[in-house]
Amino acid sequence: MCNKPIGIFDSGLGGLTVLREIHMMIPGENLVYFGDSKRAPYGTKSRDAIIKFAFQDMRFMLSKDVKAIVIACNTVSSNALEKIINEFDIPVLEVISPGSAAGLTASETKTIGVIGTSATIESNAYENELKKLDKNCRVLQKSCPLFVPLVEEGVELWDSEIAELTALHYLYEFRNSGIDTLILGCTHYPLLKNVIQKAMGDEIKLIDSAKSIAKMLKNSTIIKDNHSGTDGSIKIFTSDSISKFMPLCKEILGKDNLSVEQVDIENY
Ligand code: DGL
Repeated sequence: MCNKPIGIFDSGLGGLTVLREIHMMIPGENLVYFGDSKRAPYGTKSRDAIIKFAFQDMRFMLSKDVKAIVIACNTVSSNALEKIINEFDIPVLEVISPGSAAGLTASETKTIGVIGTSATIESNAYENELKKLDKNCRVLQKSCPLFVPLVEEGVELWDSEIAELTALHYLYEFRNSGIDTLILGCTHYPLLKNVIQKAMGDEIKLIDSAKSIAKMLKNSTIIKDNHSGTDGSIKIFTSDSISKFMPLCKEILGKDNLSVEQVDIENY
């Protein structure tokens, strides 16, 4: 398909874990990212607020002339997907179904844990999707509202003692619960993978949607099939200050040369 970029958005930094996989799997694609750090976290907001933010994020993405949009945010995917699909005429990919499918494939006991923001867990989107795929599976869910602010605060906290204690606080009830797989139902959580794995024990498989969604994109008609060997461009936008966002983008993407711009999302 055409050279237009693929748009990817999230409430903040988390969606960069999705962008990272997409860039690794289909490096020739041009990518535009928007992180709404000024208004993060989304996961503690009302459904109406999440829909309003998501519509503004979508309009901003469309202003960049994208050919498809990846909602790299579980909170938006679980609370606003239907409204987005009804409102906008562009291919949209969400993160709940690829994450659920990957979780079920990984699980042998078919007893699966799901962690996410309060809004994602309250929506029951994962449980509904998992049961749709396998009506006999058992799903245990838990919201972990402090994880997103911990990630947004900065890289020095990701593997810190505070993060370890927070993970233990949220996850102790999953230990000995029979789950063999834990779905990281928030795109920020892969950045806390070390402390989450430590709290759960090595035998529990951690799953995030990033790889599955990148694979889905790769096999879709959305991407151009003539990767010339040159990497596509990555343009990053944030609604908050660049001085805080830029170093964290560099850390997550492992790149020094990044273009990051600030945008007033309320104008969209
Ligand atoms: N990273 C997002 C998610 O996957 C949003 C987290 C938030 O802003 O609360 O849900």
